[in-house]
Amino acid sequence: MSSLEEPLGFDKLPSMSTIDRVQRFSSSACRSRADDAAMGNCWIEGRSCSTSNSCNEDYEEYTREAFPWKRHTRDISRGDSFNQRTLSLGRNHRVFGNICDSWYLSDQYESKCNEKDITNKILRGIPKFVKIVEVGPRDGLQNEKNIVSASVKIELIHRLVSCGLSVVEATSFVSPKWVPQLADAKDVMEVVHNLEGARLPVLTPNLKGFEAAIAAGAKDIAVFASASESFSKSNINCSIEESLVRYRAVTRAAKELSIPVRGYVSCAIGCPVEGAIPPSRVAYVAKELYNMGCFEISLGDTIGVGTPGTVVPMLEAVMAVVPVEKLAVHFHDTYGQSLSNILISLQMGISIVDSSIAGLGGCPYAKGASGNVATEDVVYMLNGLGVKTNVDLAKLLMAGDFISKHLGRPSGSKTAVALSRVTADASKI
Ligand code: HMG
Ligand code: MG
Repeated sequence: MSSLEEPLGFDKLPSMSTIDRVQRFSSSACRSRADDAAMGNCWIEGRSCSTSNSCNEDYEEYTREAFPWKRHTRDISRGDSFNQRTLSLGRNHRVFGNICDSWYLSDQYESKCNEKDITNKILRGIPKFVKIVEVGPRDGLQNEKNIVSASVKIELIHRLVSCGLSVVEATSFVSPKWVPQLADAKDVMEVVHNLEGARLPVLTPNLKGFEAAIAAGAKDIAVFASASESFSKSNINCSIEESLVRYRAVTRAAKELSIPVRGYVSCAIGCPVEGAIPPSRVAYVAKELYNMGCFEISLGDTIGVGTPGTVVPMLEAVMAVVPVEKLAVHFHDTYGQSLSNILISLQMGISIVDSSIAGLGGCPYAKGASGNVATEDVVYMLNGLGVKTNVDLAKLLMAGDFISKHLGRPSGSKTAVALSRVTADASKI
């Protein structure tokens, strides 16, 4: 078994879930620190050490070994915390002033020692930087009934790239009979493929789609398998195994041209037909995609039924077979659970999050599924946590406003709606 396949190094704690283990360890370390504080000692795994610095280092070392998926995380106790006033408010934040700022804890709150321990305990696994994969122009628009013109799609992609988003999924090279909204994939890609500052992956369901994408100038592609047999049939008209055979051919062809391939696993939590999907099945498909050469695997809660209670075991199963830094989460917000699911995923070491501008989206083959989590809401939350994204929230609000106005409906982003109210009220003063 390779080190990647080892089940998280928890061999000393065989019967506990990941979360139990994290909480058990964190709270015992916390409690012991408090108990020993009077003596100027602190406690690591049953032993005391005398200086808080070396203790912190030992503690850090221990967690690094015990929780290998918790790499590149913030250390709040070293002042890397979310009381930083230099949160990324966006290069253009004067337009919205401090309104774009997320709220943070007051100094008074932070000065209390035991609360700081609680903060550490809860937030220490969260990465310093999160890569946001914007899927609005593809996942966001694919389900729109009224055809959006190629020029609007191109303008949207331009605006999203100028927000600082480093990955913007541009379109899909799928059958126009199946997804009429994206029948203009070639026209869109031919204009945007040389845009600088971002990668612009496109979905390709087979070699035909791959060849068309490359001919239109695509430099990044994505393949999309499913953990549900029924969904695979309705979405791409083949079984899971047949889709994996197709994707092996696509990844082989991509490798020859040095084209990076992202892999999706749809229905990672639930399926509209089959109901709950076992985590082991998600792990199987994710591993197959990883083994065939996908550089990143995005785990999709296609119908948005997941809660932290189902996301944790799914991630735990996948993380046992694919390195955590190769995993992304892709939540649709049907039940309003996306932000809590993202937060728990970050706590488990995930550092790549898919989202869609203005919360646009839905899959044509997953009836009732709503849009992806809104990019504005994700960035607002990450700003509040002091996590860097390099994304300009103010510009994002303007891009969301652009596409929402074009579609003739209010934004699906709560942050965008709230901030537009605040700015409207402020302008009356
Ligand atoms: P099929 O009908 O089984 O394929 O479709 P076929 O090989 O029998 O071909 C039928 C026709 O489609 C032929 O044309 C082919 O040439 C054409 P005809 O001879 O009838 O004129 N065709 C194509 N045309 C353009 N591009 C292609 C292509 N391939 C065949 N690449 C197929 C199979 C996979 C093509 C079809 O089922 C399809 O396009 N499905 C796409 C479904 C889709 O895009 N779903 C949404 C994306 S997935 C998603 O949203 C989930 C995700 O966000 C993650 C999550 O939320 O969990 C990623
Ligand atoms: Mg999706």
